[in-house]
Amino acid sequence: MHDLIPAPLRTGDGGRCGFLPDAATTITAGPGTEGTERWLRTTLGAAFGLPFAPGTEGAETAANTVALRIDPALEPEGYQLGVVPAWGVRITGGSAAGVFWGAQTLRQLLGPEAFRRAPAGNTGTPGIPATDIEDAPRFGWRGMMLDVARHFMPKDDVLRMLDLLAAHKLNVFHFHLTDDQGWRVEIKRHPRLTEVGAWRARTKFGHRDSELWDETPHGGYYTQDDIREIVAYAAERHIRVVPEIDIPGHSQAAISAYPELGNTDVVDTSALTVWDTWGVNPNVLAPTDTTLRFFEGVFEELLDLFPAGTSPFIHIGGDECPKDQWKQSPTAQARITELGLADEDELQSWFIRHFDRWFTDRGRRLIGWDEILEGGLAEGAAVTSWRGYAGGIAAAEAGHDVVMCPLQQVYLDYRQDGGPDEPMPIGYVRTLEDVYRFEPVPPGLSDEAAGHVMGTQANVWTEVMQNRARVDYQVFPRLAAFAEVAWSRLPASGERDFAGFERRMQTHYARLDALGVDYRPPTGPRPWQRRPGVLGRPIEGPPPTV
Ligand code: ACM
Repeated sequence: MHDLIPAPLRTGDGGRCGFLPDAATTITAGPGTEGTERWLRTTLGAAFGLPFAPGTEGAETAANTVALRIDPALEPEGYQLGVVPAWGVRITGGSAAGVFWGAQTLRQLLGPEAFRRAPAGNTGTPGIPATDIEDAPRFGWRGMMLDVARHFMPKDDVLRMLDLLAAHKLNVFHFHLTDDQGWRVEIKRHPRLTEVGAWRARTKFGHRDSELWDETPHGGYYTQDDIREIVAYAAERHIRVVPEIDIPGHSQAAISAYPELGNTDVVDTSALTVWDTWGVNPNVLAPTDTTLRFFEGVFEELLDLFPAGTSPFIHIGGDECPKDQWKQSPTAQARITELGLADEDELQSWFIRHFDRWFTDRGRRLIGWDEILEGGLAEGAAVTSWRGYAGGIAAAEAGHDVVMCPLQQVYLDYRQDGGPDEPMPIGYVRTLEDVYRFEPVPPGLSDEAAGHVMGTQANVWTEVMQNRARVDYQVFPRLAAFAEVAWSRLPASGERDFAGFERRMQTHYARLDALGVDYRPPTGPRPWQRRPGVLGRPIEGPPPTV
């Protein structure tokens, strides 16, 4: 019905006539809904060239109005949307967020033209079909992780991505800000992190086995004001931002800026530069007091940039930290002895626990990749389960909160078709249908453990995505399928109806066209979306169930 994506909980017909907004249509915003009022006026007002002036009467009585109101009896992110001929539209949300998701539904009901930034003049103002919708999300954590370290995404493109997340009712933006290949957030007390760490001389073009290099220097970073703008823009759209500073692995950019952070008794870290190729990097942080104090300083600034209200979680990575240097380092070994630890895994665990306590003392929660389970998981920590379901299951059964994002299912850098034309194909084939059929709660999880699955996110690693168009291609249309996984409940049969979803996608492609999204067409990449001759690393066969 109405080709809504993600599908709502319930829709009714509501009668035969719809509602046609015109120059006299107002917005009547109840207390707490002012943000959605602003968003509707700027977004729909621009698309249709209508003023949507503030209504002067109460939301219950005004005619020809879009009436917004909060009713705490509804689920916090739930909403009811009614379209009543002559009266207009009534959106009632369980909270300001519910009202906002209802407004996103209203935009879809208005047709693809509602996704333009000015009237295209083709259709006039479309009518909204009469309808009654009742809706609420399945999961509270509906996220996308974007890696802006491997390839920098300029601020304007990040803001646009937030709009695209909001259009799909996704509410978590996991912002992967640092890695071996770049440090992307200004830290005032450690200026070399961006002066040195945000830039690299050249970049491997394709998978690491490719012989091609892009010799154009690459980089960029967000100033602290840029970050505040991004966080505020996300908050206005009811999106929480989860910043990630990836430690103790994935840290060569930081070490190249501050060589004392590395294992100086094993390698000459002063000779390191920001990494220009891909893979798991052996140059990891030294487990020293110098490193702890340095990153406490980083996190102090980060907590100020990402306030608790919209960023309760701070992600500290913890993935892919090879232990070779710690095995060779007399300093690391002395630390293991001094702390009475069994091995290097416990050393990593000690490192993560240090920051878990540090964040807890400051009223925040630590989240990390599932490797933080190795050597013992810190008490209050939550886990993003990426290597499969197993880490998430173990963490949830132990009472930790979990976000499911297994690479076998929802790594959007993985190719979306097995054909020869996919650009720089890597990983397993994950089609639109594969993503649509992903189930975040693995079978067999106890009810109590299932209650610890906060939700799910799709991860977008950008080694082979040089710019916004490449990111668009990998992310869309699959993010639309993912949005339905994260928002819409499973039908009673337990099986999602992919044929029905594909039918609704026909309308959704028109929305994405109006938004200017460079998605992968169902028939395959357009000629300019291909990358002939650039080596990828496809993995053959279906992904294992793990
Ligand atoms: C990851 O993909 N290394 C979390």
